[in-house]
Amino acid sequence: MGIRLTSRMKIKYITVTVLLIITLQYFGVFTHVFELDFYRHFHYPLEGDIQKYVLQLRNVEVPDVAPINMYNYTFISSCNKKCMENDYSGKLRLVYIVKSAVNHFDRRLAIRSSWGFEKRFSDVPIRTVFLLGVNPKNVDLQIGIEKEQQKYGDIVQADFIDSYFNNTIKTMMGFKWAVTVCPNSKFYMFSDDDMYISTKNVLRFIRNPTQYPEYLETPVLSLKHLRRVQRSLSDRQINDDARLFSGYVFMSAPHRHRSSRWYITLAEYPYHMWPPYVTAGAYVLSREALFDMYYASLYTKHFRFDDIYLGIVAKKVDIEPYHCTQFHYYKKEYNVFSYRHVVASHGYDDPSELLKVWNEQKSAGNA
Ligand SMILES: *[C@@H]1O[C@H](CO)[C@@H](O)[C@H](O)[C@H]1NC(C)=O
Ligand SMILES: *[C@@H]1O[C@H](CO)[C@@H](O)[C@H](O)[C@H]1NC(C)=O
Repeated sequence: MGIRLTSRMKIKYITVTVLLIITLQYFGVFTHVFELDFYRHFHYPLEGDIQKYVLQLRNVEVPDVAPINMYNYTFISSCNKKCMENDYSGKLRLVYIVKSAVNHFDRRLAIRSSWGFEKRFSDVPIRTVFLLGVNPKNVDLQIGIEKEQQKYGDIVQADFIDSYFNNTIKTMMGFKWAVTVCPNSKFYMFSDDDMYISTKNVLRFIRNPTQYPEYLETPVLSLKHLRRVQRSLSDRQINDDARLFSGYVFMSAPHRHRSSRWYITLAEYPYHMWPPYVTAGAYVLSREALFDMYYASLYTKHFRFDDIYLGIVAKKVDIEPYHCTQFHYYKKEYNVFSYRHVVASHGYDDPSELLKVWNEQKSAGNA
């Protein structure tokens, strides 16, 4: 009797233990034990003097080491005149590169007539393009894209399959396009096609990123305030050689639980933290940051999450992503006043809502 009870209990204990282990394993608890310390051990291929190779490529010299990671896709349409028709001493101020899904015709339409409108400010040259892959299964869709391109001339399309896990390819084709076809802008803003953006606030932000939005506040005429205003005036124009890579910056850990959309194995990424990265919804790069990161990406092994990939690439060339709270990776709750300093907000997948909000903000002087 006693023995039978013990063995039944044993089976119960074993079952509970096994279930517990399976559960812990599922939630990645053991994986965490085997993670390496990011701050002490971070390495990512390729090793070597990448900054030197980047400089060599930028100077059109043969680099000491050949690139390891080219996104060798072909542009079906590249808008190669887009950045040439430019009356302002050769330099554009801002280029929007909007990562869009092939079938999102209506979102592109709304963006063209809101924040992507190139003639928003008569004295600020801006360009907007939409970045697409292909959907080879749907010929009608492709015909639609070609018509759209004929009408608007703002579709940059390359021949990779347009899907969520090809986002890194899409992003890096955007970098490639900017460096090779549109290299004459001071700033570049990458965005998804479900974002609200205020062009006015983007321009205010890039004028003085470290003091935005405080520097906009009307100065009170006291000595203290006067000094602060002078200070902000002096670093108002960020230098042409400044490397700005900015948006909403995350410091976070890889997901090790298998149910996550962003589940990642130790083999793919063994460290306990991601490098600092900017969420992919919207971010700004100065020309210098764009060029350094593009050439560094040729020496950085592919990674399937585009925001993490750019974080790794930035780390390779010692660019520290700059955090700005006015880029909202979730949907910032809307009212006329709450959006006055918002640079970008996620959550605008409804084109009519985007137009409504954007027009209201424009009338209020904030967009
Ligand atoms: C990319 O294309 C270039 C030129 O077409 C070729 O020389 C190179 O081997 C290709 N690289 C990869 C990784 O496919
Ligand atoms: C990404 O694009 C490449 C090139 O078109 C394709 O071979 C691959 O299947 C795509 N991957 C996904 C996950 O769609």
